[in-house]
Amino acid sequence: MKLNIAVLAGDGIGPEISREGIKVLDVIAKKFGHEFNYTYALCGAAAIDAVGDPFPEETFQICKDADAVFFSAVGHPKFDNNPSAKVRPEQGLLAMRKKLGLFANIRPVQTFDCLVHKSPLKDELVRGADFVCIRELTGGMYFGAKKEGADEAYDTCAYTRPEVERILRVAYQYARQRRKHLTVVDKANVLASSRLWRAVAQEMMVEYPDVTTDFMYVDNAAMRMIQDPKFFDVMVTENTFGDILTDEGSCITGSMGLLPSASTGESTPVFEPIHGSWPQATGLNIANPLAQILSAAMMLEYFNLAEEGALIRKAVDASLDANVRTPEIQVPEGGKFGTIEVGSWIAEWISKQ
Ligand code: IPM
Ligand code: MN
Repeated sequence: MKLNIAVLAGDGIGPEISREGIKVLDVIAKKFGHEFNYTYALCGAAAIDAVGDPFPEETFQICKDADAVFFSAVGHPKFDNNPSAKVRPEQGLLAMRKKLGLFANIRPVQTFDCLVHKSPLKDELVRGADFVCIRELTGGMYFGAKKEGADEAYDTCAYTRPEVERILRVAYQYARQRRKHLTVVDKANVLASSRLWRAVAQEMMVEYPDVTTDFMYVDNAAMRMIQDPKFFDVMVTENTFGDILTDEGSCITGSMGLLPSASTGESTPVFEPIHGSWPQATGLNIANPLAQILSAAMMLEYFNLAEEGALIRKAVDASLDANVRTPEIQVPEGGKFGTIEVGSWIAEWISKQ
């Protein structure tokens, strides 16, 4: 298969983990006879510094013309404590999502048995937890009407029926392929937008009689994820709730550096780690490349390259079993491995299969 991939490495540790992801993609291409072509483009703080725009038009065109976007991370501390900064790196990510119509963000929360001890939760709660959060990505407060005055400010959480319907359809598709249990997470006891979500979901659930649909308030869901993460199979929720719950989900697994994601919708799909740019670690060769490498697996699976995706996942498991791990998940008896060493080990393991 020939794939044209737009590579947006972004800021902080982004370029470092991006390189490892591509290293792995290259051995897969060689092994299976695929042709992956990469076009590199600027985004985030790097793009602000270069051209004053966190998602330049040129980058948008490159993404639009590609088959997939392989994204890493954006964000830089020089913007964080400056509420009056006119442009922020994060706006680049939001612009990309909006302009590519990426309304469905798929965030799997999977635990690795050999890392269960790293989770802040008890072993027996975490072992076997495996769910997917489907986060609506182009609506809600992120994109609703805003006012930012000196004495008054607001963000509006607005959703239309078609927006809710299309994301619920994605969630039902996932539920059908998994354990057939969908939890719709909202705040329908307080928010009008949530009541629309609930009404639409209640109408649609009859079309999916094979799937058990239940409804949960977001505060309760946040608690349930900690008390009993195995309850969940597929959860679907609006943009802001999904942002918060997926950070919570990632920490259940023991490391932020492990979880990939896919964003799909109207145009080119994007594959990226769920973690941020970790600026403090830039250039130190300590960032975990696994979320980026697993994002490559999700990308290949999206194009029905199931065997290739599975091989990457097996290689990741093998690296963990061999204690070839970055410092934050390394065991005391394990050696010292950096971003590059982990990526190279995985690539080599794949090439030997
Ligand atoms: C995420 C991130 C982004 C979000 C930020 C960087 C804008 O936290 O992908 O979860 O809030 O959506
Ligand atoms: Mn987030």
